[in-house]
Amino acid sequence: MNTQPLIPDTDPHRLAAAIGGHNLIAGQLVRAASGRTFPVVNPATGREIASAAFSDAADIDRAVGAAARAQVAWAAMPARKRGALVSDCARLLAEHVEELGRLVALETGKALRTESRVEAGVVADALQFYGGLASELKGESVPFHPEMLTVTQREPIGVVGVIIPWNAPMMLMALKIAPALVAGNTVVVKSAEEAPLAVLRVCQILNQKLPAGVLNIVSGFGPECGAPLVAHPSVGKVTFTGSVETGRIVARTAGEKLIPVTLELGGKSPMIVMDDADLDKAVAGAVAGMRFTRQGQSCTAASRIFVHDKVHDAFVAALKARVDALKMGDPLDEATDIGTIISRGQLAKVLDYIESGRAIPGAQALECSTLPTHEDLRQGLFVRPVIFTGVDNSCRLAREEIFGPVTCVIRFRSYDEAIAAANDSHFGLAATIWTRDLKTALDATKRLQAGFVQVNQNIVVQPGLSYGGIKQSGLGREASLEAMLDHFTHKKTVIFSMT
Ligand code: NAI
Ligand code: MG
Repeated sequence: MNTQPLIPDTDPHRLAAAIGGHNLIAGQLVRAASGRTFPVVNPATGREIASAAFSDAADIDRAVGAAARAQVAWAAMPARKRGALVSDCARLLAEHVEELGRLVALETGKALRTESRVEAGVVADALQFYGGLASELKGESVPFHPEMLTVTQREPIGVVGVIIPWNAPMMLMALKIAPALVAGNTVVVKSAEEAPLAVLRVCQILNQKLPAGVLNIVSGFGPECGAPLVAHPSVGKVTFTGSVETGRIVARTAGEKLIPVTLELGGKSPMIVMDDADLDKAVAGAVAGMRFTRQGQSCTAASRIFVHDKVHDAFVAALKARVDALKMGDPLDEATDIGTIISRGQLAKVLDYIESGRAIPGAQALECSTLPTHEDLRQGLFVRPVIFTGVDNSCRLAREEIFGPVTCVIRFRSYDEAIAAANDSHFGLAATIWTRDLKTALDATKRLQAGFVQVNQNIVVQPGLSYGGIKQSGLGREASLEAMLDHFTHKKTVIFSMT
């Protein structure tokens, strides 16, 4: 445990320069064993803001070793004491919300007011939620035999490997590390190469409260750093959020090792707007659900919006007007609603999808809002949000995860047709239905193939509610008590013979 208190630093450039280039292992900020680093770039300007440790198998081995050594004492601590420490972490993080919001805005290009500061708040909330659940790590008594006392108990798995993406790095990390730690595991996080700084800072803050080695974080690329974490013989469980493609690679290695894995993968989440829906509410729900303020970089993005023929044109006009009203600009400016795409590679991918949509006969690409003109942002990875109309569910735009500010509004005439199209996807993460008719709403909640279904609203993942996908959207659930019990413990059956 560090004794020097960390003072919040709301100058993200200074903070980035100060912590960049490090991993955090056994409570210490350390360089990669090889001494190598890679640049961290501000996507709004194209300028390098810091470096990050380019970690490889040697660093992973060091971090996993520290985690394994710390795990015995951590697991031996009374559960509520672990929970209390995680709750202390939440309180400490709450003091750093502004700092963390600014740092994540700088490295990811997500607007501070609409996204980054909000994410920083959710991190503290997730830790608070799990900190209070420690006493729920209970087993059962089983009426197996009158002369035997039979019980089950929950035990930690050991060292958990956590692999996270860049779109909501702090929040996605918190939803994994909090239940893992409370359940008595220790953790090694592998951050996303595009966003290694804010998550490192979060771990540094948490290490003020946690014993050394309980929470470690390393930065680096997938093949060099992520793969050895999954493959390490002392890692007993891996939890991953990212692409389907990488999820399969992670699952393959976990399969070889026969260790459990949780996967939160992509989505192509449908939204069905019936002709009796409250249209204003539905349009607002589409803007929120599509995460236009995060440039659509969300696994839950409502990227297929099925709208009844009778209200289609009015819906499209209202949606366009709302997205037009969002201001694109410097992510750190309080006036900005929409920041940038994360990286040049993602930008190229998004632009390619937009081109593919324009080439569809009869398709219309409605470009929204306006690009910022400020000189400083000339190299920024900005792209105007696009609403496609005149397309159907069979095009690439409707089948593949774009992870950009691009949505399709698809016209339908019958409810059954809309349900069938919504379910015609290899993803199954989230879905919404918008209608005033209770019977239709209830029927849709039964028929929509997704892990998270909502009626007349489109809220995001919430501590306390199980979250995760079916089909290729993933394996397992996060954010709830059951997620902690099912995915971060194993159940031991114990039988006492009384005879
Ligand atoms: P990715 O799945 O390749 O990266 C996610 C994490 O996995 C990163 O930390 C990365 O370094 C790590 N990783 C990569 N290769 C690995 C390997 N062989 N072993 C272990 N870890 C590895 O996603 P990427 O390249 O950032 O984005 C590509 C697409 O993935 C996006 O366009 C989007 O469609 C999807 N995506 C989905 C996310 C979600 O929230 N479900 C988040 C990020 C991306
Ligand atoms: Mg990748």
